[in-house]
Amino acid sequence: MLRARWALSQFWKVYSSIPFSSDSGSGWISTSGDISQETYKKTLNFYLNGKPVQVDSRNINPAEPLIDYIRNNANLKGTKLACGEGGCGACTVTISHYDHEKQAVTHRAVNSCLVPLCYVEGMDVTTVEGIGSVFDELHPVQERMAIWGGSQCGFCTPGFIMSMYTGLRNNPEPDSKSFQKCMDGNLCRCTGYRPIVDAAKSFCHDTKDTVKPPEDRAFKPYDAAKEKPFPEELKQKKIVPLQLTNESASWYAPTSLKDLLDIKAKIISGSTELGIDFRFKGTTFPVLISPVNVPELTDIHHDDNGLHIGSAVTLDNIGRYLEECAASLSPSQRHRERAIQSVLDQLHYFAGTQIRNVATIGGNIVNASPISDLNPVLLALGATFYTQKAGEKAKPVAASEYFTGYKKVKMEDQEILSHVTIPWNEEDEFVEAYKQGRRREDDIAIVTSAMLAKVQDEKIVKAKLGFGGLAPTSILSPKTEAFLIGKKLDLQTFNEAAAVLNREVGLRGENVPGGQAGYRTTLALSFFYKFFLSLLHHHSLPVPEKLGRSTEKAFPAETTRATQEYRLNKRGTSVGQSEPHLSAKKHTTGEARYVDDMPHQHRELQSALILADRGHAKILSLDKEAAMKVPGVVGIYTYRDVPGSNLWGDVISDEELFASKEVLHYGQMLGIVVAEHEIAAKEAAKLIKIEYEDLPGIYTIDDAIQADSFFPVTHGVTQKNVDEEMSKAPLTLEGQIYMGGQEQFYFETQTSLVVPDEEDMYVYTSTQNAHKTQKFVASTLGIPINQVVTRVGRVGGGFGGKETRNINFSAAAALAAYYTRRPVRVRLERNVDMQITGGRHPFKSSYKIGFDSSGKLLAADLQLYANGGMSHDLSVAVLDRALLFCDSSYNVPALRNKGRVARTNIPSHTAFRGFGGPQGYLTAEAYVEHVASFLKLRPEVVRERNLYNEGDLTYYNFPVTKSVRRSWDECKISSKFQDRLQEIEIYNSQNRHRKRGITLIPSKYGVAFNAMFLNQGSAMIHIYLDGTILVTHGGIEMGQGLNTKVAQVVANELGVHISHVRIKEMATDKIPNASPSAASMSTDIYGGAALDAARQLAERLRPYREKDSGATLGQLAVKAYFDRVSLSAQGFFKSEHEGYDIMTNKGKVWRYFTLGTACTEVEIDTLTGDHKVRRVDLVLDVGDPINPTIDIGQVEGAFMQGAGLVSIEELAWGDNQHPWIKQGGKLQTAGPGTYKIPSADDIPTEWNISLMPDTTDPKLETVAVQSSKAVGEPPLLLGMSVYFAIKEAVKAARREEGQEEYFQLNSPLTSERIRMACVDDLSRMAVGEGAEDIQTKGSF
Ligand SMILES: Cc1cc2nc3c(=O)[nH]c(=O)nc-3n(C[C@H](O)[C@H](O)[C@H](O)COP(=O)(O)OP(=O)(O)OC[C@H]3O[C@@H](n4cnc5c(N)ncnc54)[C@H](O)[C@@H]3O)c2cc1C
Ligand code: FES
Ligand code: FES
Repeated sequence: MLRARWALSQFWKVYSSIPFSSDSGSGWISTSGDISQETYKKTLNFYLNGKPVQVDSRNINPAEPLIDYIRNNANLKGTKLACGEGGCGACTVTISHYDHEKQAVTHRAVNSCLVPLCYVEGMDVTTVEGIGSVFDELHPVQERMAIWGGSQCGFCTPGFIMSMYTGLRNNPEPDSKSFQKCMDGNLCRCTGYRPIVDAAKSFCHDTKDTVKPPEDRAFKPYDAAKEKPFPEELKQKKIVPLQLTNESASWYAPTSLKDLLDIKAKIISGSTELGIDFRFKGTTFPVLISPVNVPELTDIHHDDNGLHIGSAVTLDNIGRYLEECAASLSPSQRHRERAIQSVLDQLHYFAGTQIRNVATIGGNIVNASPISDLNPVLLALGATFYTQKAGEKAKPVAASEYFTGYKKVKMEDQEILSHVTIPWNEEDEFVEAYKQGRRREDDIAIVTSAMLAKVQDEKIVKAKLGFGGLAPTSILSPKTEAFLIGKKLDLQTFNEAAAVLNREVGLRGENVPGGQAGYRTTLALSFFYKFFLSLLHHHSLPVPEKLGRSTEKAFPAETTRATQEYRLNKRGTSVGQSEPHLSAKKHTTGEARYVDDMPHQHRELQSALILADRGHAKILSLDKEAAMKVPGVVGIYTYRDVPGSNLWGDVISDEELFASKEVLHYGQMLGIVVAEHEIAAKEAAKLIKIEYEDLPGIYTIDDAIQADSFFPVTHGVTQKNVDEEMSKAPLTLEGQIYMGGQEQFYFETQTSLVVPDEEDMYVYTSTQNAHKTQKFVASTLGIPINQVVTRVGRVGGGFGGKETRNINFSAAAALAAYYTRRPVRVRLERNVDMQITGGRHPFKSSYKIGFDSSGKLLAADLQLYANGGMSHDLSVAVLDRALLFCDSSYNVPALRNKGRVARTNIPSHTAFRGFGGPQGYLTAEAYVEHVASFLKLRPEVVRERNLYNEGDLTYYNFPVTKSVRRSWDECKISSKFQDRLQEIEIYNSQNRHRKRGITLIPSKYGVAFNAMFLNQGSAMIHIYLDGTILVTHGGIEMGQGLNTKVAQVVANELGVHISHVRIKEMATDKIPNASPSAASMSTDIYGGAALDAARQLAERLRPYREKDSGATLGQLAVKAYFDRVSLSAQGFFKSEHEGYDIMTNKGKVWRYFTLGTACTEVEIDTLTGDHKVRRVDLVLDVGDPINPTIDIGQVEGAFMQGAGLVSIEELAWGDNQHPWIKQGGKLQTAGPGTYKIPSADDIPTEWNISLMPDTTDPKLETVAVQSSKAVGEPPLLLGMSVYFAIKEAVKAARREEGQEEYFQLNSPLTSERIRMACVDDLSRMAVGEGAEDIQTKGSF
């Protein structure tokens, strides 16, 4: 059913008041035309989950993405909106259509956040609800995902399910490589992908090395015959022209080219570009026209002249056609395979499956992006583009003349692109294509290229070098091409030509749009080098053996292998067993409900935040008059309207809810607009006029040091007289390292729904901190805390980002609800969420180390700086934890550190898994690696020499257990570290541009909240008379499996199967003053509290059980009830550890250590900076797991977050390191398009995890619930081993260049940082002097 008519009519009023805009003009034509209107169908018809749907054209906004219809109109909430820009796959649905020509049904996975609703005319749309449900039956993909533990928070899960489902519909017996490829457009932030990959592999006929399902659970076979049939009605339906028009806009889908040309409108093909413009830029067009049903534009064929591709052919269809074409080439045509392969190579790493399934070649060409992957190939191959207008024939334009400027093409306003001809390469022409992005899969390019050369008699007679990413358009390099003609094919020619290319396309200076001038130039030269070597090889000319692998391109996707070793220690009815996550089934069917899935409330208002667009400025005025006039706007509230306190903050309330006089960071909240419809609220927010006076901004730690801008706290730990020990040390050295921040990238963005009810405010929110939300909502409104109830059912990932930084959004929504007395919903779009919420603190660490010639560490003097952002938030606590991790696992007898938090004009940085631990750990491992480099020793030698022994005290006086050395020794053996080290040395000596690195590295992670009072928790248990149990505890289930573990503990204690236990949402009216779910402590404190309550109940029932040992819990409960024994208990847990004062270094800070060692091997391509993690072995002490599968899931997820932190995840802010970002303090990387979390392709090719048995010391039982140690954060440190393995590989590359000395390598190791550290003649050519010591820019 469609949403209320009111909303729609108001929507159109707002919509039509927005000035229509167009982009460069290409493809955009005025609206008039002579078409046969009566033949056009006026309703949209499609099937949704097997049922017919008809939408009247008056109710259609042509730009509305399919997801809006699915979620808002069809009320199917399983499909999730996590980014809105096609970059995560959470919104994946299947669209199926009948191909009349092939007489077959085709299924495509698509991003419903981009695909327009109108696109699905005549198709069968399947959402996650359409394939299975908990109530009926799970589909086999849902079942296997649940069994294998493929979901944690569950927010990405429906998207994965639909990608797998689509893959199976197209090929019921897939091979593992192609089936894994189906998921290349899906991301997950929680799981580390391994269980998802293994669940997928269980469908593949060639499956090997899959981790078996936990407890060897049985699963049903996949039977394609049971799938729902494609609707017969749609099969029979002829495709007819479509016209959907309402009072403001139209959508046409003609079936003839003539009509398409006659109707003068903006072409919309796959909408993978336009959809983003609609959503994020608010671009609108009065008339849109879809070419997907025009035969001339969707035709693809080939003849002796080449390939002819209609502009509306999708990239997926091109790929498929080319593969078939390659397979059908006759022996005399074999050489054509090179042109085909170069296009296929670019398509392979072009976006993800969902994008390729709808994106068209025409859209890619006309969009004219300077980093288009296809355009350089089309340039190099000499393609011809055909443009056409009404009444005229198609006109050829050479590709080399088509791109005229940034996103500008040679095409008149009245023209469209009709088709493309790609000529075959001649027999003696050689072609290759290259691409390097921030991440291999589903990423746009940094530089992309294709090159063609023809060689006769060892002389180059033709050359075409196409590039993207070096200029405002895709370009050829005519000067270099001309230079090459007539030259001999040898390396001397390469050297000379590279110099010409460098002059011709090289980028210089720091202000080039997109930055990375030196890297992009180096990449262009490196691709040229790869091409030249391949050319030599192709012509059987000598290439030094060591360069054999230098021609290789991006690391190919490989089928992964994994093993897991742990001893099941089953205790009682449930503890120690791999119970599936309690919500696993609901995750996979989309039935798991998150805040934004809650039904639209009666009279609910939507909101838009008023956000500053300055980094640092005085607010001179704020005028809301025009905004208030937008139809549908109900209220606009700023600091002036706050009835209580406008100040908030977790530890210190030093932050304004709404900025009053001064903006302290880009994106700071100035107020909130509420309206009947989200579009009206957004439009009004844009119309608010704010006058500013800009002030100088401080963005980085170095800015802050220069300006002495710090929060007024200096913390530090001192063990022994460091100056004295340092002066006695035979050797000393000094150094520093910077570490970039990290975005939590929880899949569910910050969302709150506040519902006023009589005098109470009910706050439904996605938070890790229900208590603080309650507290600050109350203080904002000036009402008592007991009038606010926070309710948290489940959270779609938090990782620390929801510990404090969402409280303000709940408070803002509550304020609007307070005035309007209506429910108010706030949901941040991904780009806004990333821009304004802050993440992991960037750090700068300086060190002075004293040591002897054997590598024994004697003294360390450390200075740490954290970039805290604009307010305190949790920064001091984060800093404290960093200060307590500065030993990694090494005994440094004298250690002193000091830390300060820089006050800067960026959003307040906050908690993130590890909470300062990773920054302290990197500091420690950096100085250890520096010492090793100095002494020309392997870092492992220095590590082993200094490893703590059992009973040693850390510099903060905490005793270390034997597991440190034990995990080190076991990992060293099981990973075959020594043998592999030797193999790697041989490999490196034989390969010039492929280098491998291996590292063996320990970690120890102290577990407890540093703030002593937080180490407490409560839980409440009721037993009902049927023997079922209801538990409410103060923890938040955000994917970590907390509820499952608590249920296991309770089931065990009361002697029942886990199915008897239900866990209810956390609600502050049931559990008051709860500590946040953080610091890996939730199982300890809430499991402990639940255990306490369960024990009380067990004790009350004990007399009944003693009388009747065979009675069920229900029978015992009934007896107790009739005896008036309470069957409800409140449990409480507080940690008995001593607590610690960092300033005096007194007390015991942790409860225990979770420990482990990683052996990690990587390979890098020194020419591009690409890297691949080849193998990881982890040996951990996590105590006696309550649930080994959940714990291993935490290990894998944390490991990949740690790996991402130190490799591909990079944030770029508008600061002095990035002068090309014009707005100071603006986050450039605010979305999955530019910020890259690891994808499934980034997981280790081989991944072995072992949980050590018999680690439990007798004392653990008293401090850790069921002797199970915290596991949420600790393995993240082991993921950072990727940094050290890469650094070893980079060292090997630098040694080839005679660079033997230590070098500073900041984190993260992006492809840019790796490439530029692997200095060679090409990078020297690109950046000139100083290439050896170049420090890649970064926001620290
Ligand atoms: C998540 C994501 C990842 C991506 N990754 C990559 C990548 O790896 N490499 C890469 O190169 N690109 C990438 N892109 C960009 C995008 O996918 C391509 O540009 C795509 O090919 C556009 O095709 P479309 O059919 O979706 O175009 P649309 O969005 O429908 O249209 C784009 C523009 O082209 C115009 N247009 C389309 N067809 C015609 C025609 N026949 N005549 C005249 N004008 C026309 C439209 O009017 C519009 O202005 C990515 C995009 C997303 C969202
Ligand atoms: S929500 Fe559509 S791809 Fe992320
Ligand atoms: S389970 Fe994948 S994002 Fe949480």
